[in-house]
Amino acid sequence: MSTIKFYFGEHIPLEMHKVRIVQKLDLVPIGRRLEAITEAGNNTFLLKNRDIFMDMLTDSGVNAMSDRQLAAMMIADDSYAGSETFTRLTDKIEEIFGKKFFLPTHQGRACENIISQVFVKPGTLVPMNYHFTTTKSHIVLNGGAIEEIPITEAFNISSTHPFKGNLDTTQLKEIIQKHGADKIPFVRLEAGTNLIGGQPFSLENMRQVRKVCDDFGIMIVLDASLLADNLYFIKEREDNCKLMTIREITREISDLSDIIYFSARKLGCARGGGLCTNNESAYKKMRELIPLYEGFLTYGGMSVREMEAIAVGLEETMDENMINQGPQFIAFMTEELQKKGVPVVTPPGGLGCHINAMEFLEHVPQSQYPAGALAAAIYLISGVRGMERGTISEQRDENGNEPMANMELVRLALPRRVFTLSQIKYAVDRIGWLFENRNLVKGLTFVEEPKILRFFFGKLATVSDWQPELVAKFRKDFGDSL
Ligand code: F0G
Repeated sequence: MSTIKFYFGEHIPLEMHKVRIVQKLDLVPIGRRLEAITEAGNNTFLLKNRDIFMDMLTDSGVNAMSDRQLAAMMIADDSYAGSETFTRLTDKIEEIFGKKFFLPTHQGRACENIISQVFVKPGTLVPMNYHFTTTKSHIVLNGGAIEEIPITEAFNISSTHPFKGNLDTTQLKEIIQKHGADKIPFVRLEAGTNLIGGQPFSLENMRQVRKVCDDFGIMIVLDASLLADNLYFIKEREDNCKLMTIREITREISDLSDIIYFSARKLGCARGGGLCTNNESAYKKMRELIPLYEGFLTYGGMSVREMEAIAVGLEETMDENMINQGPQFIAFMTEELQKKGVPVVTPPGGLGCHINAMEFLEHVPQSQYPAGALAAAIYLISGVRGMERGTISEQRDENGNEPMANMELVRLALPRRVFTLSQIKYAVDRIGWLFENRNLVKGLTFVEEPKILRFFFGKLATVSDWQPELVAKFRKDFGDSL
């Protein structure tokens, strides 16, 4: 049996690569960070990279590429139609996923647009383990609705359940019986469920979902953007899968799916996206929209260099010593924060480390956006940029009411192979300090609130003058230089 864990000493993960190109970082003083977060309206999306020390906003499009990916980019075959690069990528998709038909897109949400336009009609319903922001928007834009049916454990922030991303198949059956299979264009399964803390589903759960869908003749659409982490967790945590290779697990997941789509900004560590299927009639319907929204069928809005990088990146994703890098460093960071008493989502998932802002800032009411306030405070005291994943990331309903999110999380993403262990320890140290001084952090209120995807561009102000007070305490403990 092969092991895919590389630890030494007491759970210290090992980087299975060497660093050959570096990008210099600056850690601007806290006085500048206070100006920067104020200029950004306390929205970490609006910060400029020059003011950021560790960018943990996302792992999207910022994973480190390998020497082999960069080399492949040099042999990319540039042509509007029929490039060799496209053939190499399609062949790799077929080899790994066993899907004959591949459509390239410029990124993951473009696949969601195309799938939703083709299959979602007004009055239809898409059951799923959990939504992703752009997925939900596309389904709703096309007149559909979503129904989230993760297992109840999904919302238990401190848990030992290995597969919190599982879909509740009993509820799935009930929904299908209630609405009728003809109202359900597909069931969507998201690997490495993003918004509940990068939590995986099990292979066994997917088999059960398939069985229900087969009974009612419904398609499964897999969002494979975070598949790499999910594969790792299946191999590590699912007893019956320990003897399977990552390739075998991937293939079975693929065989259980009718359509697979992915953001190649995540899966394959490049930029771009695509969808694949063996269903020829679905392929033909979706194909019509590619030249309209993306580009010709053999590039779909991507540069051929990125397409070469994806082909190699997908191959490298099948390497057990590569896909362990994200989850193992996330687990390390999560466990170190736990030692300092910081409330975090457990078990550690993929994508990044998730802090439970509702508990960290239990004195901040949810209507004052604890996750947004915590993300701003973390940046202020460390130069580490995380992302709010709570009520600010929700959208007002048609009557203008603001739904409160199920969870208030701050996500600290760990792009693969980007940060060193000492950088992670720095982030843990500063967040530990903030936790001791958490009473100084107060809430936020919107001053500019866009109607759609408000978390991207919205601006917020502090409800009181808490940030200068936090800075004063920081200077007392650390001086002005950091
Ligand atoms: N599906 C999932 C599960 C995602 O995490 C993302 C992107 C998308 C679809 C959309 O893909 O960005 O290429 O258009 N997640 C990014 C993130 C934005 O930061 O988590 P995209």
